[in-house]
Amino acid sequence: MGAGQKLVIASHNSGKVVEIRALLEPFPVQVVGAAELGLPEPEETGETFAENASIKAEAAARQSGEIALADDSGLCVAALDGQPGIYSARWAGPDRDFLAAMTRVEHELKSKAAKDSRAWFVCALALAASGQTTEIFDGRVFGSLTFPPRGSRGFGYDPIFVPEGYRQTFGEMNPDKKHAISHRAKAFVKLVRAAFVRDETT
Ligand code: IMP
Repeated sequence: MGAGQKLVIASHNSGKVVEIRALLEPFPVQVVGAAELGLPEPEETGETFAENASIKAEAAARQSGEIALADDSGLCVAALDGQPGIYSARWAGPDRDFLAAMTRVEHELKSKAAKDSRAWFVCALALAASGQTTEIFDGRVFGSLTFPPRGSRGFGYDPIFVPEGYRQTFGEMNPDKKHAISHRAKAFVKLVRAAFVRDETT
């Protein structure tokens, strides 16, 4: 990707767009959100994070004529066999009520009398341009769940997730600290290597 290249962020989730903008800050791309361009949100019919990221990125690339980047991500809970996983946003319902979604996780763990609090976030980034093969970059961060939720930073399930080696939840952590270790940051390292570093050497 060259200097001044427009990059459409194929997401209507403002929390994600804020994080992606911050992660792309050091790079010479002009970031535009899908909502700013009035692009519709495609239905996420995939069965994996990568499939859903591709669906979103390819739709935005087709509709805008620009290179598009989509993130599909979610929280996987070991004792819930990896749920909510790709359904993480859907557990929050149409009102995107994440307090309700976090309460549902807590109730489902209680109903199973689960002692295992391990969980991990997954992020799949898809980079798409019309007529080209979509590229996928993924990352994950492991940790454990804590209840009640703590902290008002970040978004989504951040207040119940404590990354391995830390005491604070993602919801309590300084955003720079989260950006250094998160699933999204790890996927970004791979994306940057492929999309930016490669350009400088060719
Ligand atoms: P989707 O990828 O837009 O389908 O939604 C992913 C959902 O996973 C988000 O709405 C959040 O609930 C959750 N999620 C993904 N990444 C994070 C994160 O970094 N922190 C907290 N929740 C996240």
